[in-house]
Amino acid sequence: MSQYNFLTRRLLFKFGLGALVGFGTVSTAKSILLNRRLQALDNPHRDFTVTEHCSLKECARKKGLIYGGSARYEQLIEDRQFAEQFIQESGILVPEWELKWSAGNKLLRPGPDEFDFSAADGMADFASKNNLLFRGHTLIWHESLPKWFQEVVNYDNAKQIMEHHIKTVVGRYAGRMHSWDVVNEAIAYDPIKSKRADRLRETPWLKFLGPDYIDLAFRIAAAADPKAMLVYNDFGVDYGDTMSRVKRQAILDLLKSLKEKGTPVHALGIQAHLKGDSNYFYPKSLRQFLREVAKLDLKILITEMDVIDKKLPAAIDVRDRIVAGAYEDYLAVVLDEPAVIAVITWGLSDRYTYLSEYHPRTDGKSVRPLPLDTTLKHKLAWNAIARSLNHSTYRP
Ligand code: XIL
Repeated sequence: MSQYNFLTRRLLFKFGLGALVGFGTVSTAKSILLNRRLQALDNPHRDFTVTEHCSLKECARKKGLIYGGSARYEQLIEDRQFAEQFIQESGILVPEWELKWSAGNKLLRPGPDEFDFSAADGMADFASKNNLLFRGHTLIWHESLPKWFQEVVNYDNAKQIMEHHIKTVVGRYAGRMHSWDVVNEAIAYDPIKSKRADRLRETPWLKFLGPDYIDLAFRIAAAADPKAMLVYNDFGVDYGDTMSRVKRQAILDLLKSLKEKGTPVHALGIQAHLKGDSNYFYPKSLRQFLREVAKLDLKILITEMDVIDKKLPAAIDVRDRIVAGAYEDYLAVVLDEPAVIAVITWGLSDRYTYLSEYHPRTDGKSVRPLPLDTTLKHKLAWNAIARSLNHSTYRP
């Protein structure tokens, strides 16, 4: 090997080693900074004491509010301990799967002309037997669609298929529903990148029916059940980052346009899947958004609240405090808006949360996003929700 090549290889080796050490130093520095940021989210002295002893359902009712959760039919019929706790804490039941076209192991729509209402009927009966309000989720969405949908639905039959679905499903429970999420997540996931002025999500419904599919869905639902509150449901409006700001504006524009058309939309559903590690919670921008929605003569429901803890420290005491703080900080803002009528968590207990699958922790530890732990005991998150309800103003 020539002297030149030898020197070159040594230089490359040293550069490579230097780069590795440098990279290692940078990544170590990054993880130290991240840990410091996350620890800063924790306030070991924050007070989560609850002075009024009531279930979340009762705390809410005393203020003219509704508190409740989503659940799966199998959880309610196979886990008696959970079902009893759910009845005690919740004033409203939302099927997590059973009123979607197809979700989990449930298939409401086995075929273009078929419906299987067995699970949905079971949940409606569970709600009425236990004096729970019943909420439908969701009629028109781009997800949870059965396999045949893509093969069957086209420009010629999309309207008929939408009408048939909504009339049949809403009609079956007419008079029994508190509310329906008629259309879910119609705004683009990243509205900044959307090529559309209305920033609508490119879904099969938009493709086959155009932007008026939203108005059409609400009109069909209103005709099928004039008593139900009809809700437009979406996520990603909670924080101060640019994407959230653009999404808030896109949702406001959509709601204004629907109201101008005379669309029978009665409320906005805000999913509120919060990020426990976020530093971008700006109360003022969220509060202003809620005020502007209310000005459209719309009610507001928090429809799927939980706190994603996947990036939070492993220590349970720290994690639970940060999660509880996120609940209480957020609810302090939303419950200040009189148009907010309900707080619904996406699940009630860490024993059953979709975040275990959709936002698992990299350290393999169980996630802890909900008011009750896996043994159904109250967590600080429960205290945070109870305190928020107890501190809110009465809704007449
Ligand atoms: C989720 C369910 O929890 C999952 O079990 C299912 O696999 C997918 O849907 N926003 C929504 C809900 O509107 O319908 C989603 O529920 C969670 C995000």
